[in-house]
Amino acid sequence: MIDFDQSTGIFHLHNDHVSYVLQVVRERYLLHRYWGRPLKKFRDSSPLQSIDRAFSPQPAAYPNERTFSLDVVQQEYPSYGHGDYRLPAYEVRLGNGTTVTELFYDGYKITKGKPKFAGLPAVYAQESEAETLHIYLLDSQGKLAVELLYTLMADSALLTRSARLTNCDSEALDLTNAASFALDFADHDFDRLSLYGGHAAERSLERVPLMRGVQETGSRRGASSHQQSPFLALARRDAGETSGEVYGFSLIWSGEASFTTEVEQFGTTRVIGGINPFEFKWHLAPRENFQTPEAMLVYSDKGLNGMSQVFHQTVREHIVRGRHQHELRPILVNNWEATYFDFDEEKIDSLAQSAADLGLELLVLDDGWFGKRNDDNSSLGDWFVNTDKLKQGLKGVAASAHKRGLKFGLWFEPEMISEDSELFRAHPDWILHVPDYENSFGRHQLVLDLSRAEVCDYIVKAVGDVLESAEIDYVKWDFNRHLTEAFSGALSSEHQGETKTRFVLGLYDVLERLTVKFPHILWESCSGGGGRFDAGMLYYMPQTWTSDNTDAVCRLSIQSGTSLVFPPLTMGAHVSVVPNHQVGRVTSLQTRTLCAFGGDFGYELDITRMSEAEKEQVKQHVALYKKLRPTLQLGKFYRLLTPFTGTKNETAWQFVSQDGREVIVLYFKTLAEPATPIRTLQLTALDADAEYELTDYLPAQRTSMDFGGEKALDQVGQVFYGDELMYNGLGVEKIDTDFAGYMWVFAKK
Ligand code: DGJ
Repeated sequence: MIDFDQSTGIFHLHNDHVSYVLQVVRERYLLHRYWGRPLKKFRDSSPLQSIDRAFSPQPAAYPNERTFSLDVVQQEYPSYGHGDYRLPAYEVRLGNGTTVTELFYDGYKITKGKPKFAGLPAVYAQESEAETLHIYLLDSQGKLAVELLYTLMADSALLTRSARLTNCDSEALDLTNAASFALDFADHDFDRLSLYGGHAAERSLERVPLMRGVQETGSRRGASSHQQSPFLALARRDAGETSGEVYGFSLIWSGEASFTTEVEQFGTTRVIGGINPFEFKWHLAPRENFQTPEAMLVYSDKGLNGMSQVFHQTVREHIVRGRHQHELRPILVNNWEATYFDFDEEKIDSLAQSAADLGLELLVLDDGWFGKRNDDNSSLGDWFVNTDKLKQGLKGVAASAHKRGLKFGLWFEPEMISEDSELFRAHPDWILHVPDYENSFGRHQLVLDLSRAEVCDYIVKAVGDVLESAEIDYVKWDFNRHLTEAFSGALSSEHQGETKTRFVLGLYDVLERLTVKFPHILWESCSGGGGRFDAGMLYYMPQTWTSDNTDAVCRLSIQSGTSLVFPPLTMGAHVSVVPNHQVGRVTSLQTRTLCAFGGDFGYELDITRMSEAEKEQVKQHVALYKKLRPTLQLGKFYRLLTPFTGTKNETAWQFVSQDGREVIVLYFKTLAEPATPIRTLQLTALDADAEYELTDYLPAQRTSMDFGGEKALDQVGQVFYGDELMYNGLGVEKIDTDFAGYMWVFAKK
């Protein structure tokens, strides 16, 4: 619901979960007034106070009003150059060289539903599901117009924001910064939460007190990155997983993002988010406009889990699209860690046979099936099958999977090119490169210039031809290096600063065309694991390979961090061999399996070489997963313990089916400890008055082959009220082993 009170200039966006209030003052300035718990009515119980602040200048129209300065008010999309010295929401260079503009309020419109943005991923909603406020701002000299878009969902605490900036001048201008949103909090009594990491170590949670001055979380890598996810949260100091106020921000963009916080002299906090302004430029001829990516803004008074619930529901229902959106995802086996580049038709055939025997559902052929690629030095771009390895081509391996009742999936890395490839020899100019400078390599490969239409057309055709050449049910779309020498041979110097942004827009165009053309395919995005795990990619591809690190202990942190924003249904999670290929750790098959139950489950090891006993265990795990899959994949997900807090030694996740009838709890203890406290897990989001029966229990494995014990089986059948499980908690049987993993399943009676 969006109300506007003409007499006070107050816009109140509200529903049962949140209120967000803006005010137009002096008929010019758009101020931020409130964001938080839902208010019945905003009657301004804490009116704006006018204080004379030294060194805070007055705008030209109010020279004698020393109590009014843009430097001290809470704004919504601030300009720079008229006395507000904090970071601005946008920066522009006009034809005459000035960077000074000033935006005044110029009207509004409220529409049902949510507008679509051509060529950009965004939250989508039916007319009845959302309302959108369009606020129009116009530069005092008429040179620049900005439309701010605010969409509030009817039944959640999700607000989306974006901006469209239009050149209204008679000459061209350059945008050098265009944030998706900005707003000012009245205080800075927050912790600042971000997700940091690296390759094979994605999305650890950092929580630090919000500091004075400027702090930035962002990427300058041409991709949303492993290093700094496009996410920020400000949490009240007392906020935890289930209580307290949290403000979460996530950008629907797969390129470079930036979230900046600025705590200034009077203790307010400005938050700005959008495309990273570092090196950003967009040249606008008269009347041209630039639409920023969309940001999701979530308010929670139920802690971090409350925030994640809103993000998860939004991603599941309003970002992910297509046939697979609500479909259960198949249990896959991927040959990468099983064979790397060393495979042939017989090997893949034997994997298919074992997969079918074990009850798996999808066989994925990873890197190395094309060109002459036997290592990572060559052939990217040459998307035709290597018949030395696969004698009967892709049709042969696809048929081998299908005849055993498995689906068949294939790996691509279409944005890249090897210097040693037919494509490079034919089109050396198709790469991102700066004239006169040599190219930097990453994994021996170069990056195609997706700002060029002909390159995008080539990718759509080349990938499309392969997908038409055999029966392919799944695609893994990889991206294994970041951008360097981001210069496009196809853009003039005045548009050169657009290259990295146009690269992402080119990618979105390719993905839109391919996913529309092949709607039956289940697409999974990947970037050396989770280097592009963002809502933009999920708009086209409903799941993402979470990390190249398949070690169960590392995954507890990676998957917990990822779950701040993204639901388990979007996270690829596989059981791999021990000693683990990334960190050398040995964990039990059960622990690896339960950890992988926390995402789209699969295997990534040579299943043909497992012992008979292990195969038996895998069959039981697979059967169990199939039974529990609807809740694990489509249910609600809660973090009970994470490796980011407390002793950092324990992780617990809870899944509740959407109808509340099934509850699954996974608990992991990383290292056994002497004098360890007895752990009870306080469950959450249960019906306090309902009874829950324990239907399955897997205690941690004492030895690698121990599949549950007598004592544990004795407990099955016990019934507890929800209040006891939530307030007294679920006792965890102590076990003296490292890397322990447990599971409980409850059925609501
Ligand atoms: C990086 C991916 O994350 C891996 O899973 C695998 O597909 C390799 N690339 C293949 O080169």
